[in-house]
Amino acid sequence: MATDAIDTAKTVRLTGPAALTGTLSVPGDKSISHRVLLLAAIASGTTYASGLSLGDDVRRTRQAIGLLGAEVEEIPAGTASTGTALAITGGTLCEPAAPLDLGNSGTGIRLIAGVCAGQDALSVLTGDQSLVTRPMDRIVAPLRSMGARIDGRAGGRLAPLAIRGGGLTGIDYSPPVVSAQVKSAVMLAGLFANGPTTVRESVPTRRHTEELLAEFGYDVVVEGSSVTVRPPVQLSAAKVVVPGDPSQAAFWTVAGLVCPDSQVTVEGVYLGYGRAGFADVLRRMGGNLEVNPADGTVRASTSALRGISIGPQDIPSMIDEVPAIAIAAAFAEGTTVISGAAELRVKESDRIASTVAMLNAFGVAATPTPDGMIIRGGRPRGDAVVDAHGDHRLAMAACVCGLAVSGSTMIRTWDSVATSYPGFAAHVAALTRGTATLKAAD
Ligand code: S3P
Repeated sequence: MATDAIDTAKTVRLTGPAALTGTLSVPGDKSISHRVLLLAAIASGTTYASGLSLGDDVRRTRQAIGLLGAEVEEIPAGTASTGTALAITGGTLCEPAAPLDLGNSGTGIRLIAGVCAGQDALSVLTGDQSLVTRPMDRIVAPLRSMGARIDGRAGGRLAPLAIRGGGLTGIDYSPPVVSAQVKSAVMLAGLFANGPTTVRESVPTRRHTEELLAEFGYDVVVEGSSVTVRPPVQLSAAKVVVPGDPSQAAFWTVAGLVCPDSQVTVEGVYLGYGRAGFADVLRRMGGNLEVNPADGTVRASTSALRGISIGPQDIPSMIDEVPAIAIAAAFAEGTTVISGAAELRVKESDRIASTVAMLNAFGVAATPTPDGMIIRGGRPRGDAVVDAHGDHRLAMAACVCGLAVSGSTMIRTWDSVATSYPGFAAHVAALTRGTATLKAAD
């Protein structure tokens, strides 16, 4: 079966161990891709964006900006590793004629909610079975206090969400949760408000919205951990090349560290503010890593790892990398304690429960805590059956562990990988020189 067909298999099996060697580029960063599409839709003129993530999440945002009035044209020659190139003509947002369906994407729905709150229009936002259970009150509360009228289901789990926007007032907001999605949703709404909007974070998060606004011609005021947008804001079209996704690079980095006789190099990775925490943590664990932020290269080779403590200050810059880091911890000597990560409970799955269950399936002594987990490292064993719970990062983390252990690994709900990394199976085949390939086991 071709590896691209394996991307869509519900269950896969692979047999390890495998040595991983080689150099690769990972898909374009998902967080940046969403924001490029949204800012291009707001900006006047035609934006040329290349390297965009080909995953389903970003495809949903692309569809959504089309419904919001942007013209999106594909520039041929995009592949899984080079990403999609698009010409996006924006500047005239309109009322969407149909609900915006963001699929599995929490980032997509929350950021678009910010844009819709700024429009004098009715927008309906929805998503898949997982998304409709995820908390939306964190963006609804500040957007309402800016003047947007938002309705949805009870209990703060508000997708579908009906937003009647427009006439916003700027706010000074200190989010109760540390979240770049919340910061960005409020900033995006703030672009359309009638006064300045400031977001003050207790721990600073990724700065993609700030950095991209500058590329679209508007300099946000950043002071310590607070950001301010001061309308009127005129955005103009840009040429943007989306760099590789560090959250995807983290899987290959961990694979390079824990698989036998391996050396893996990932090129062109975004290693800017708030995203390179995984590399710092893996280095603290004793990982043999070379990291060059100037050209985005990360090189990892087989290492003897040790357990460490990972705390609340570490988490925002590696929140999505915890399942990958947990695999490194499973192979480390000693205990790794992860705390301050309660947000993992409301990701694509309850990632504290699902990561611990994955580790237990590999025979690792891991226990959940309310805001993290305790992992006693050692020798994970093969013949595990892992349920990824429809969560792409769990599926890829289980695959990395399966490459390092002796025996077979079965991974259920594998097809979730398509939300962020179509082509992952092809990269497994390439890095293992075909010695460990994923096979559909439906
Ligand atoms: C993201 C922020 C993070 C992260 C998500 C992408 C973003 O979520 O987990 O995958 O693009 O802003 P939170 O901001 O809710 O922590």
